[in-house]
Amino acid sequence: MQPRATWATKIGMILATAGAAVGLGNLLRFPVQASQHGGGAFMIPYFIFLLIMGIPMMWLEWTIGRLGGKYGHGTTPGIFNLLWRHPLARYLGVLGLVIPFILCIYYLYVCSWTLAFSFFSLGKLYYGLNDLKSMGMFLRSFQGIEKGYFNSILPAYVFFLITFFTNFFIMYHGLAKGIERLCKLAMPALFLLAILLMIRALTLGTPDPTYPERNAINGLGFLWNPNFSELKHASTWLAAAGQIFFTLSLGLGTLQCYASYLREKDDIVLSGLAVTSLNETAEVILGGSIAIPAAVAFFGIQAISKGGAFDLAFLSTPLVLTHLPLGQMWGFLWFFLLFFAGLTSSVSIIQPFVSFLIDELNILWRRAVILTAIAVFIPIHLVIFFLKYGFLDELDFWIGTVSLPLLGTIEVILFSWVYGINKGFEEMHKGAWLRVPNIYRFVLKYITPLCLIILFFVWIWQDGLRIFFLEGVPTEIRPYRWLARGLILATFLLCSWLVHLAWKEKNET
Ligand code: PHE
Ligand code: NA
Repeated sequence: MQPRATWATKIGMILATAGAAVGLGNLLRFPVQASQHGGGAFMIPYFIFLLIMGIPMMWLEWTIGRLGGKYGHGTTPGIFNLLWRHPLARYLGVLGLVIPFILCIYYLYVCSWTLAFSFFSLGKLYYGLNDLKSMGMFLRSFQGIEKGYFNSILPAYVFFLITFFTNFFIMYHGLAKGIERLCKLAMPALFLLAILLMIRALTLGTPDPTYPERNAINGLGFLWNPNFSELKHASTWLAAAGQIFFTLSLGLGTLQCYASYLREKDDIVLSGLAVTSLNETAEVILGGSIAIPAAVAFFGIQAISKGGAFDLAFLSTPLVLTHLPLGQMWGFLWFFLLFFAGLTSSVSIIQPFVSFLIDELNILWRRAVILTAIAVFIPIHLVIFFLKYGFLDELDFWIGTVSLPLLGTIEVILFSWVYGINKGFEEMHKGAWLRVPNIYRFVLKYITPLCLIILFFVWIWQDGLRIFFLEGVPTEIRPYRWLARGLILATFLLCSWLVHLAWKEKNET
């Protein structure tokens, strides 16, 4: 058997994990969620869930990951089987392969748009667009949704290929020489770029003197002014919990996988906290100070409330930036920032599948990367060509929203109840540079599972049923939605079969 890979340095591992966490969620999803759910008041449930769910789950995933790595398992089928010696455990763990696999299919494509747009920002055509309407048309014709600036999907496809090969090229070089090296370069660059853009956005002043209320400071005010009455709505609390899970990359299978390449005596407690802090800085400070203040300065507050995260990324923010002196450069930097944020995340979501092939099926690293690349390459075409039928949205709802708290719930129950919270705590503290307060035994045993179960069921209840029965979806689009579900199901069956094969050889329970 090949020896298991390890991280070369502690700082490299922390930057790689921070790279997985810091992504489009910080720069786009967070400001949109906060501004839609009470502004500054949103930070109350946000910080509560950070303390009772985000931080403890981060420690938990690192702990079970490092434990798995000790026995040669980097993915949840093997890890769950260590926590619970029962065949069912590894089939529950299949979820931790399916989630990253499907996620990576559409995340890579979205990531390639940011690369394409950083390129377009430098050119005349895009730079010459003057209003949100034509920018919207530009984006949609690029994606092949309507005709206009682009007559075919070929440019989008080329950028997708570049992004795809960049990703797998990095992974091909291995953990320390590929992912770790990328993140050591990209993460400092990402923070630097974000700080530059933040300073630029906050010093915009009042670009149009006829509208004195349109300025960057009002944008900050809009985002942060607390509207406490929003706290009465369950949806605010749900949004905060969902954002914490999404932004920290919890419940995906990726943090466990990264942690499995730690050594037994490596610290988890302080490192997990460090990664959380890096992500929260990138989210609350940088994410809150770029897109929204810039957009408010130019379009006033009304413009923000309507569009979602994608409008903020591809329409309003670049429109503002390209109209500044050196506009092409600012537009380029914005999209390049998003691209870096996306790239360091996309390598993290592909890793579990690669690790599964290596750990459980004894395939060599490079061969595992190539096999994964092929497995991912084929279904991506469904996402690319069926984008206008909501194929991507369907995958995103079931995988990006519903499955994360589901995997989280399974994990926390296996850890706190089956494996046992005391044993779990002992494992967590091996080599620890910091002690976790004892109150977290209670939190991880009762509070976190309860939060997760509620989150999962409320999502199913509120959106799941409506989405499952395709309410409001035109009949001619429904087959594509079912195709997306079929893809998820097929991935599930395929991964279960691989798990079955792997353990047949092993003779373990
Ligand atoms: N944590 C990432 C973010 O905040 C989101 C992400 C989800 C990254 C899934 C990778 C995989 O943007
Ligand atoms: Na994040």
